[in-house]
Amino acid sequence: MLTIVAVCCFSFTLAYVSSCVSKRNASSGWTTTPYKIGVPYFPDSLNIPRDNPMTVEGVELGRYLFYDGRLAGRTHKDSLMSCATCHRQSHSFECGIDHPKFKGGKTFGLTGIPTPHYMMPLINLVWVNEGYMWNGFIHASNEKKADKYGVSAEYGFNYKNLESFVWMMIVAPHEGNGNIEQTLALLRSDSLYPPMFKKAFGTEEITIDRVSKAVAQFVRSLVSFNSKFDRFMRGEVNLTESERRGFFLFSTERADCFHCHGSPALPLWTTNQFMNNAKDVDFTDNNDRSSVTGNELDKGKYRIPTLRNIEFTAPYMHDGSFSTLDEVLEFYNSGLKRSPYVDPLMINVNHGGTYLTPEERADLKAFLLTLSDSSFITNPAFSNPCPNNEFFINE
Ligand code: HEC
Ligand code: HEC
Repeated sequence: MLTIVAVCCFSFTLAYVSSCVSKRNASSGWTTTPYKIGVPYFPDSLNIPRDNPMTVEGVELGRYLFYDGRLAGRTHKDSLMSCATCHRQSHSFECGIDHPKFKGGKTFGLTGIPTPHYMMPLINLVWVNEGYMWNGFIHASNEKKADKYGVSAEYGFNYKNLESFVWMMIVAPHEGNGNIEQTLALLRSDSLYPPMFKKAFGTEEITIDRVSKAVAQFVRSLVSFNSKFDRFMRGEVNLTESERRGFFLFSTERADCFHCHGSPALPLWTTNQFMNNAKDVDFTDNNDRSSVTGNELDKGKYRIPTLRNIEFTAPYMHDGSFSTLDEVLEFYNSGLKRSPYVDPLMINVNHGGTYLTPEERADLKAFLLTLSDSSFITNPAFSNPCPNNEFFINE
């Protein structure tokens, strides 16, 4: 089913290439095409708010806005910032360790203020119902409107879903540090947008609500289902002996990864729960899970990250402590640290790790690399729609 959608998006993309020259499109009437997400063996529980159904037109508008460096409210070349400044497709929508501005993967806003954590990939987020961000702060049940991450209460927006990331990026001191009216004024001044808003929402009006909804639709469309392991599950390819052995280690208590990072039955490669994986003993991060729940026992807990495309998303962990996959494997092998907060599922914590043999470690790594989906990081439907327009930026 998803293949059909992808094809239809692609042709839509082609139809829109001419939009980059900012011509007004005098289309009349309003019809939208539903954008369907569904991969046969993925969970059914899609997180799509009722007031923002996905449409082909909305997703495409969101793609433009995601790459538009004027989103942060400035036009000077050095002051452009888009979602893609940090979230790069080539790195599964993380910034990567080799970002020209963010050395080692440490991101900061236009003011130079660092983000509270290292990055998370934007991949299969439509299946996350447990809360977004490392600490799950952004959640449907959230009534809080103020004062997290230095964002003032005056804005009055909520932090309920992917839609929230747009206004947060515009105003947060560690991202755009801008002003919503200024951003809207810039978007309104480009004749490229009114026809696209009309197609997506029925009229040409450009509001923060519509901008947020369109970007959220695009982020929900970032679905990966085509790794070597997916193809193996569909009977299209075989795994090597080493990859098979690695999968066995992963899925049993010998390497003990599956409790948290899932299984083929959970092809997201995370349970999306919040866990303390025995990495730290002193918990100085004011933005861990306990900062959201107020529960002392949630110290050092973070949302378990997906292992899909793990090859492309170094550095690793919420604090970027590991630069390579080998360092992560060394940590689970012999670097586990005991504390009262470690999750009981870290069954080897008392011995400090799993102590795999070098061969077992090589097998486990070979398996992890079968989770790479290169068609995701090169999918034209997810790429910069106007690479030759100075305002549309990839990093
Ligand atoms: C300055 C760099 C930067 C920019 C610009 C940026 N992000 Fe992020 N983004 C991050 C970092 C860092 C995190 C991890 C934050 C955390 O959890 O502490 C993140 C997390 C996220 C998440 C949570 C993913 C998850 O699995 O829960 C989403 C969604 C997201 N960003 C979307 C966006 C969108 C949409 C935009 C543009 C409107 C944007 N970001 C702009 C750096 C950035
Ligand atoms: C008890 C749950 C749990 C178990 C078991 C577990 N992990 Fe994790 N894993 C996590 C959590 C939580 C994080 C994020 C921790 C942080 O950011 O500080 C993480 C992070 C990672 C990361 C970094 C991902 C990123 O995007 O930064 C990798 C890679 C990883 N784990 C692989 C594994 C492997 C391989 C195994 C088995 C050897 C394993 N994990 C076992 C919970 C677990």
